Amino acid sequence: MPTPTAFFEGQFVPLEQANINIMTHAFNYGTAVFEGIRGNWNEEQGELYLFKVREHIERIRQSAKIMRMSIRYSDDELVEFVEQVALRSGYREDVYIRPMVYKATKAVGVRMHNLDDEFLLFVTPFGAYLDPDAGARCMTSSWRRVDDTSIPARAKVTGIYVNNAMAKTEANLNGFDEAIMLNQDGHVSEGSGENIIMLRHGKLISPAPSDNILEGITLDTALALAKTHLGLDVERRSIDRTELYIADELFMTGTAAHVTPITEVDRVPVGDGTVGPVSKQIQDLYFQMITGRMPQYLDWLTPVFKDAAVGAKA
Ligand SMILES: Cc1ncc(COP(=O)(O)O)c(C=O)c1O
Repeated sequence: MPTPTAFFEGQFVPLEQANINIMTHAFNYGTAVFEGIRGNWNEEQGELYLFKVREHIERIRQSAKIMRMSIRYSDDELVEFVEQVALRSGYREDVYIRPMVYKATKAVGVRMHNLDDEFLLFVTPFGAYLDPDAGARCMTSSWRRVDDTSIPARAKVTGIYVNNAMAKTEANLNGFDEAIMLNQDGHVSEGSGENIIMLRHGKLISPAPSDNILEGITLDTALALAKTHLGLDVERRSIDRTELYIADELFMTGTAAHVTPITEVDRVPVGDGTVGPVSKQIQDLYFQMITGRMPQYLDWLTPVFKDAAVGAKA
């Protein structure tokens, strides 16, 4: 039986005891930065593989730096905490691990300074976010992506996600699976929780880091797999909305959504409107890799239960 465990205020506690006070600054003003780390379950091996933990720790540090927040633990400690919440919780299924640095002071007042920073972690079972087989039907959102001059999208700030949530809800209420947001100058930015990759003229193209995107870990991974295994060239540049309509293939990448093909944008079919062959190949490689079935990529993964069995977590 799983025992949902959190890391909260410096110790491991049962999840139901990890509660914040209603006056907590982060709850009132969205003053927190967070990450999402996947644990992917391999049934045959009886193993849960955490994906690129150190990269996520590095990114939460970058988010914290941008927001002038401090983390009182070392990278090694943070990695250990992530592994421990997964191990102690004991889920034998796909999970999502949520590290967060938040303004913990119980105080009213809009600011980032003179407030205490705390770190927490929890883990929750988490299956497919978008349908990986059917692909996603998307709409261009009427909500523009936040700009680096307002709230930096490269920092994973909780408060920013109001922007994403507005776009996602608009898309869902209009009968679509996911939103594609344009940035302030009208170029394609990203989905509500995913980066976007387009196949055109035999090349994979994705918006540049300066197009107000979260600099995705799955994006980098998918592009690397495509380069190595399919020999595809990769380009980072701004993408126009109408390029999406004439793309040969489109897909989304994200910790939650993995690699999800896009079959339609604004009711215009992508290619012939079915899952594209290149997207499918990259998706297959990705699923093989994150579940520990590609030995050359095992150093991207942390096996939760194997390490425990050999006493590495003693
Ligand atoms: C807004 C946004 N864009 C892109 C991504 C994809 O990033 P990653 O692949 O690192 O999860 C996420 C998910 O974390 C996200 O929330």
